[in-house]
Order: sequence, then structure tokens, then C-alpha cells
Amino acid sequence: MIKSPIRIRTLSELRSVLKEHRMAGRSIGFVPTMGALHDGHLSLVSMARAKADITVVSIFVNPTQFAPGEDLDTYPRTEEADIARLTEVGTDIVYLPSVEEMYPDGSKTDVRVADMSDLLDGIFRPHFFYGVATVVARLFVHVQPDVAVFGEKDYQQLQIIRRMVRDLGFPIDIVGGQTYRDADGLAQSSRNAYMNAAERQKANTISAALHRARTRIAIGASVSEALEEAKASISAAGFERLDYVSVVDPETLEDLPEGALPIGKVARILAAAWMGPTRLIDNMGFERA
Ligand code: PAF
Repeated sequence: MIKSPIRIRTLSELRSVLKEHRMAGRSIGFVPTMGALHDGHLSLVSMARAKADITVVSIFVNPTQFAPGEDLDTYPRTEEADIARLTEVGTDIVYLPSVEEMYPDGSKTDVRVADMSDLLDGIFRPHFFYGVATVVARLFVHVQPDVAVFGEKDYQQLQIIRRMVRDLGFPIDIVGGQTYRDADGLAQSSRNAYMNAAERQKANTISAALHRARTRIAIGASVSEALEEAKASISAAGFERLDYVSVVDPETLEDLPEGALPIGKVARILAAAWMGPTRLIDNMGFERA
């Protein structure tokens, strides 16, 4: 029988429901989201289900990770459709806290993961990773999961959360879920819905350019040459603004030197660019052969 998840909106109810599961010896798997769920999210939920007895998904559009003028007010809010999709994939609990539940009146505590939050996306969205780390730390305290799953599509976010968990000693296993792509290679994202048909058609240039650059660097091309080529093809496809294309160390997220990488070096290539009003990000891992 297909069972709808139970919806919980307050921390006190969440605590009492999860306490019973814990007392019965059940492990808790957690997937934090901002809703507008797509197949990529559902694959993360399936991973959480495979790794723990009880699956909790949170849906919370977190105001502290949006800057003034960003899309907080227009961010898609699709609770009923989200619950229907979570029912299909199988979820025990959906946590839908209010802003007051997550940020009690007069809240003054933030979490900042220094340095890593100020690179790449952090240069263009300086508030962003502070908001993410703060809300994820709060959600971890609310849910107290054994395992939490985050998409590799948001690679910088994933690495910052791993670092936060390590630094603060959260007893949580952080698992990265592979990026889910449309047939033409575009990474799935809730914001893809903002693109019109013409923009959507050109949007996969970003994944094609990253794919080509990583293949070239993996067989010995210089990082700077491959990046120049990737930048040129992304701009030629009609992306109005290219925030960055970078090849970085996968742990520290710091830029790697411009020349050819030493054999065996593991790296990550990341990009962010604007297609009309939509900011797209993508990334891929590779190793220098
Ligand atoms: O990746 C997201 O959807 C959000 O940044 C997260 C992790 C749910 C925090 O609000």
C-alpha cells in the first residue's frame, strides 16, 4: 500500500515522533530541501531510504541564503506536488517548519565555514553559504539524523557541509548523491523552470563545455587553455554572464595551478553562468590520467 508521509510543522512534534523511532532502535536518514522537488531530489531520497530505517525530508525555503533582490519571494512553493512525489518514492516524515520555527524570535546564532564559503559561488553570492551552513546546522539539531544526503550538483555546498560536520563534531554521515541530468546533459535544478524554451535549448552548453574541458585536462592539456575554450563556448551559446569556470582542489576548493595537472591529481571543474534570468551551476569531478 502506498503511504503518504506524515507532515510535521513544529520542532516539538518532530522531536516526539523521532524519539519513538530512536527508542525502537531505528536509524534516521535525512534529505534537506527547499521543495520544488525534481528527479534529482527523489534520487537523494532513495539513497537516504537505502541507508536508514526512517526517512525525513525537510522542505524549507531558507530566507537567510537569499540576498535582497534575489528570488526568495518567487522561489517555487509546490507543497502538494512535492508530497505526491515523496509518496511515490517513499518517505516517512516531511518536516515543513515555519520561519519562526527555524529562526526563533531574536535569533542571533550563525554558522560560518571560513574561506571555503568565500570562493567560487561565495564571490558572487557572499551571504549564501553562511545562510546554508546556518540553516543546515539548525536542521541537523532538529532532526538529529544518522545520515544526511546532499546532491553533488551543489558541490561547494556539499563540501562546506562536510567541513562543518567535521569541525563541529556532528555525529552524522554525509553522503553525496550524483547529479541528475536531463537527456541533453543539463543538470536538474528547481530553477530550470524559470527558463523559456529557447533558453532551455541552449542551457546544456554549460555541461558540454565542462565535459570537454575535463576530458582535455585529464589527458594533459593545460588548465588555463581548457578553461579559455570552455569560457568561449559558454559565452558563444548566449549565456549573458559567466560568473566563473574554475578547476579546483576537490577538498579545499582552491584554484589549481594553470598548467597541466600532475598525473593522478584528482580535481573538480565548476561553472556558474546566467541564461536570461536564470543562474545555472554545474560541476564534474575527474582525475589526471
Ligand atoms: O540545496 C538546497 O536545497 C539548500 O541549500 C538546503 C541544503 C536545503 C539548505 O537550505
